[in-house]
Amino acid sequence: MRFSIRLALPLALVIAAVAFVVTPLIDRYTQKWFVRDLDIRSRLVSEVLRDELATFDAKEIATASSRARVQRTLDRLVRDERIYALAICDANRQKIAATDTFAAALTCNEATSNPADRGEVVQAKNGPLHLFIADLSLSDGTVVHSVVAHDVSFMTKRSQETRRAFFGLFLFLLVLVASLSVLVAHLTWKGWLRGVRELLDLAKSTPKISRKLLARAVPELRPIARDLRDWAHEAARASGQRDPSQITWSPEALRSILQKELSGEEILIVSNREPYIHTRVGDTIQVQVPASGLVTALEPVMRACSGTWIAHGSGSADRETVDRGDHVRVPPKKPAYQIRRVWLTPEEEKGYYYGFANEGLWPLCHIAHTRPTFRSEDFEQYRKVNALFAKAVLEEAKTQNPVILVQDYHLALLPRLIREKLPEATIITFWHIPWPNSEAFGICPWREEILAGLLGSSILGFHTRFHCHNFLDSVDRYLEARIERETMTISYGSELTKLNAYPISIDWPPRRLEEVATTEECRRRVRERHHLSAGTLLAIGVDRLDYTKGILERFNGVERFLDLNPSFRGRFSLVQIGAPTRSNIFQYRQFVEQVRAEAERINTKFAADGSPTILLLERHHEPEEIFEYFRAAEMCLVTSLHDGMNLVAKEFIGARDDEDGVLILSQFAGAARELPEAIVVNPYDVDQCADAIRLALALPIEERRMRMKSMRAYVQEFNVYRWAGRMLIDAARLRRLAGLKRSRTEGLEASFSDFR
Ligand code: G6P
Repeated sequence: MRFSIRLALPLALVIAAVAFVVTPLIDRYTQKWFVRDLDIRSRLVSEVLRDELATFDAKEIATASSRARVQRTLDRLVRDERIYALAICDANRQKIAATDTFAAALTCNEATSNPADRGEVVQAKNGPLHLFIADLSLSDGTVVHSVVAHDVSFMTKRSQETRRAFFGLFLFLLVLVASLSVLVAHLTWKGWLRGVRELLDLAKSTPKISRKLLARAVPELRPIARDLRDWAHEAARASGQRDPSQITWSPEALRSILQKELSGEEILIVSNREPYIHTRVGDTIQVQVPASGLVTALEPVMRACSGTWIAHGSGSADRETVDRGDHVRVPPKKPAYQIRRVWLTPEEEKGYYYGFANEGLWPLCHIAHTRPTFRSEDFEQYRKVNALFAKAVLEEAKTQNPVILVQDYHLALLPRLIREKLPEATIITFWHIPWPNSEAFGICPWREEILAGLLGSSILGFHTRFHCHNFLDSVDRYLEARIERETMTISYGSELTKLNAYPISIDWPPRRLEEVATTEECRRRVRERHHLSAGTLLAIGVDRLDYTKGILERFNGVERFLDLNPSFRGRFSLVQIGAPTRSNIFQYRQFVEQVRAEAERINTKFAADGSPTILLLERHHEPEEIFEYFRAAEMCLVTSLHDGMNLVAKEFIGARDDEDGVLILSQFAGAARELPEAIVVNPYDVDQCADAIRLALALPIEERRMRMKSMRAYVQEFNVYRWAGRMLIDAARLRRLAGLKRSRTEGLEASFSDFR
């Protein structure tokens, strides 16, 4: 409203001024020009008549023949369409000769009352006429008057036309100028916006990038840009280190850490498992997101940071989907980063992955009472494949000091292999599984090589401080290294490695929530899918079919619960999603058999009571499907016998935006340290498990809400961006310290005592 008044009022004033002041003025001037023009023309005609009449004297002019001659001249002259009438009047103002039109409009008396030799516009009978009277001398000196009358109605007509044309032109110009102004303003605004945006980019950029951006900046903004950049860099320098607790952790925050703290370095992630597996099913290629906590955590980090994820290409259609450099852009629907696939022969995979990693290190690190098996031929393959990954890293690294995130127990030798080739690289290694106590670790025949391999890292992360201490003890026991327990740093050879606990997490808000239905709808769908009666109470378990996950203990807990609480038989079901995993390993195959048998035994036991007790869904489920089960369930059972963190627990929390649902959580999962609001159980204690299920069903809604709300707030704050961001911040600090070391040869060790 105010805008339209502000626009309309000046416009109306301008138009009024044009209509009432400018146009009449123009009118007056054009009339003046016309009159002047008519004066000149009339004078010319008068001159013609003067010449004609100069041949007569007073007597002759009175004769009929002379009059006729003059009349002819007048008639000839009046043929000019612009001359309306002509007349010659004598000194007594009597007509000597005149055109017919003269008589119709005027008399000599009227006409000659006007001053001579000057044009005047008079109002005649038929309308306005321009009259020009000239005194003409006959040969004897007698004076007669010529009257030249022009019709000036054309003047009015032309003046109207001129006015209209002018007004039209004015309006046209007005519209043109207005449009141009709007356009220019828009472009200028856009230019400024772009300029301002560039300024902000500049402020955020690294010195190297800022030079380029500055050269591109809008010229008028360049001085401000320079100041802003200097100020921002100064502020960044002054702030020294970021305080992770002061940051709201999001993909943007992570990106900004990368840009500001690590000069926008591209990130390389290296893991055995790839985040997207292409599998051939008949004529089609399907994409699978594997069941892996590592993938769940790192995928959103990569989406945020882009870069390259180097991993084993294990899918049956993986080779068909890569380019010549073995790259494929992912996620398939909205590519944000690339996977670089490393190809392994079946022999390499057998020794490295199934053998040393999963028959050796996996059971070694998990205290789940499955004996590790170490074979030297497996370790040979492990060495070989770690070297293959190192080669891929070197091929992908674009600088001498890239940031490389090495993942998990498959690649324990990789950090050192990279360090040997890229001494300035920042290598952050994260061990996703527990680290056993030094005695247990000592079982590994290649313990020194594994430890030395990991100590090629700049930063070595575990989920808990407990695992960090176990690692320190192992180094202490098996290597010649200097250990600073206070600062958790290890100096081995010329390398320093900083140990820290970085509890892993999930993205927040979970991306999957965008696609799922309401909890009511999820509940309805799940019950319908499994033919469960409407009142069935649901528990959910989601695991790879791995002996460390406590699946059998969970089943036993359910059985015990139903033994002790018979009223729940037939109306309580556990949906157990079991993702097939590592099925080439005997212990895994055997475990699956046991799980199947136990489920069957328990189902048979309670068969007469209604809904089946255990629904074992033995197939790969996509994250969206799992979220549906999470939302449909009354409770989620996480009963791992030993687990680094267990992200299923956090994903269940992420899925419950209705703030309902109870989490039963093993005390042996890293997550239990962070989520005391869960019902924490010892999975080996079957009665405690049964009791936990009964308690979960008995908790009033207010308490369920309180617990869930509190856990959601925690996971929201301690999300995966914080996990990655904290490691990157620590890495950035290390790089600065390394820079100091180079510049003042005193050695990094002294500086390290500040690193807490
Ligand atoms: C654990 C490991 C991951 C692994 C995942 C799935 O979470 O820490 O590194 O990816 O299990 O196991 P898989 O052998 O299928 O990769």
